[in-house]
Amino acid sequence: TSYRIGYIVGSPAAASINRRLAGALVRLAPAELQLEEIPISDLPFYSYEHDDDYPQVARDLKQAIADVDAVIVLTPEYNRSVPGFLKNALDWASRPYGENSFADKATAIIGASPGAIGTALAQQHLRSILAYCGARQLTTPEAYIQMTPGLVEDDGTVTVESTEEFLRTWLDALADHVRRSLAPTPQA
Ligand code: FNR
Repeated sequence: TSYRIGYIVGSPAAASINRRLAGALVRLAPAELQLEEIPISDLPFYSYEHDDDYPQVARDLKQAIADVDAVIVLTPEYNRSVPGFLKNALDWASRPYGENSFADKATAIIGASPGAIGTALAQQHLRSILAYCGARQLTTPEAYIQMTPGLVEDDGTVTVESTEEFLRTWLDALADHVRRSLAPTPQA
């Protein structure tokens, strides 16, 4: 069996280090995980005034989430939280009311920052958001990546062996999480 895994890069920057981290995940993912990007950069600002007539770009986002078995959210840390760019996409996905795309969705979060804290605080906020949306989250291992220059090359190659090993371990844990999330619920 292989699983479709969508990933959302929570940065609007072309040179995003979180996009670079996504490249590493694509490169290291085991064969059972098929990674594909779920783009969010064309979304306008969310307002509940759109709820009666969702724009096509937001319908596409919700369909893309529905089409995959799990979603990886890569978050930068901006001012100790998630970027507004990412929060906006999560808000779109959570609505219209009653059509929350994250309900029971298998998810996993990861993030990169140049600092040693490696997005830990942003991820704490992201966990709260996804919990409120009812997502099934990979809770452990946590993945706080300090992105030093040269750690991940342009083609996604990870140059530090311990980091590469850690990312492989994290991806294996994600595969387990997806399997468990999709397993039928035992009957009483
Ligand atoms: C930052 N940065 C940052 N880093 C961090 O570790 N904790 C933080 O709270 C912040 N705050 C912050 C605010 C704003 C507005 C910016 C632009 C940046 C630095 C940040 O980690 C760095 O710019 C990364 O490159 C962001 O990730 P992407 O967007 O390149 O993926």
